[in-house]
Amino acid sequence: MTIIKDVTKENIEDLCWFCVPETKRNDPEWIKGVEDKRRWAGAMLKKQGSLAKLAYQDNCAVGMIQYQTILEEGIVYIDCIWVPWERYWQKGIATKLLLSLLDDIKNSAIGGFNDGQALALVTKTFPGGAPNQLTARQFFTKKGFQPIGKDPDYLYYPLRPGFVYRPKKKKAVKYQPQKEDKGKVLIISGPNACPATYPYFLKRMEKYIREIDTKIPLQWLDASQESFAVKKRGVKIGDCIVNAKLIKSFVLDKENFQKEVNKALGK
Ligand SMILES: CC(C)(COP(=O)(O)OP(=O)(O)OC[C@H]1O[C@@H](n2cnc3c(N)ncnc32)[C@H](O)[C@@H]1OP(=O)(O)O)[C@@H](O)C(=O)NCCC(=O)NCCS
Repeated sequence: MTIIKDVTKENIEDLCWFCVPETKRNDPEWIKGVEDKRRWAGAMLKKQGSLAKLAYQDNCAVGMIQYQTILEEGIVYIDCIWVPWERYWQKGIATKLLLSLLDDIKNSAIGGFNDGQALALVTKTFPGGAPNQLTARQFFTKKGFQPIGKDPDYLYYPLRPGFVYRPKKKKAVKYQPQKEDKGKVLIISGPNACPATYPYFLKRMEKYIREIDTKIPLQWLDASQESFAVKKRGVKIGDCIVNAKLIKSFVLDKENFQKEVNKALGK
């Protein structure tokens, strides 16, 4: 039987470790990723009172949905939905997680909104998934989510008849170059909604830069511990600065990422 539980202080560790592959549980980079997630999840629990739900079978977490309330937009933003193991697919686990979230919104258990209740669910799905696995985009589309613009992974589900979600324009990141950033690399880390960010994305940045330049000094800036240094540069977690230039290419696009790094280094 599947039991849906809210993530609380009691089971927050289940959430922090949920996305870590079995083979990576002792890997220091993934352990650091879990620490970043723990810091993020603890803060979100304090701020929102709830942040995720886990689906359990025989006391083992087998599915999760994680969300944030964005009060100024009146929405609940779904960070992630995931049922990783094939033996649990197509058993209604993700549907139960989504329905449980909708129930909480209807009962105002997830709240703080001006009008009492959220106007929409919003999500930006990660175009991943294992072979034969339903993608998150396919799942949400099946459940009635609609595209927000041209990006097929950016979706919303109105919770009031006729409501149309128009995202508020976010200020583009504008890196403020600092003299001391010349001749070095800075990677911004910190509390994170996803434990894979550090091992999978940030450490990959380091690796791809080291393939180009083995000697350039490389500094990690933790956004929560060195907030002044991060704020004065106008950057955020996940950003990478090379020789006082913000690298804009996505790290998984290795060719363009390295091209931009080379250009920043004047190579
Ligand atoms: C999408 C996902 C959450 C669905 O989980 P699930 O528990 O299997 O979903 P459900 O059993 O509730 O099924 C929902 C619907 O999708 C269908 N479905 C689920 N998996 C399917 C599959 N592999 N093939 C075809 N249909 C599928 C179900 O039949 C069901 O259809 P219905 O609504 O018409 O009845 C899961 O496949 C997943 O985790 N995908 C990867 C998502 C991802 O990348 N997350 C980010 C990780 S970082």
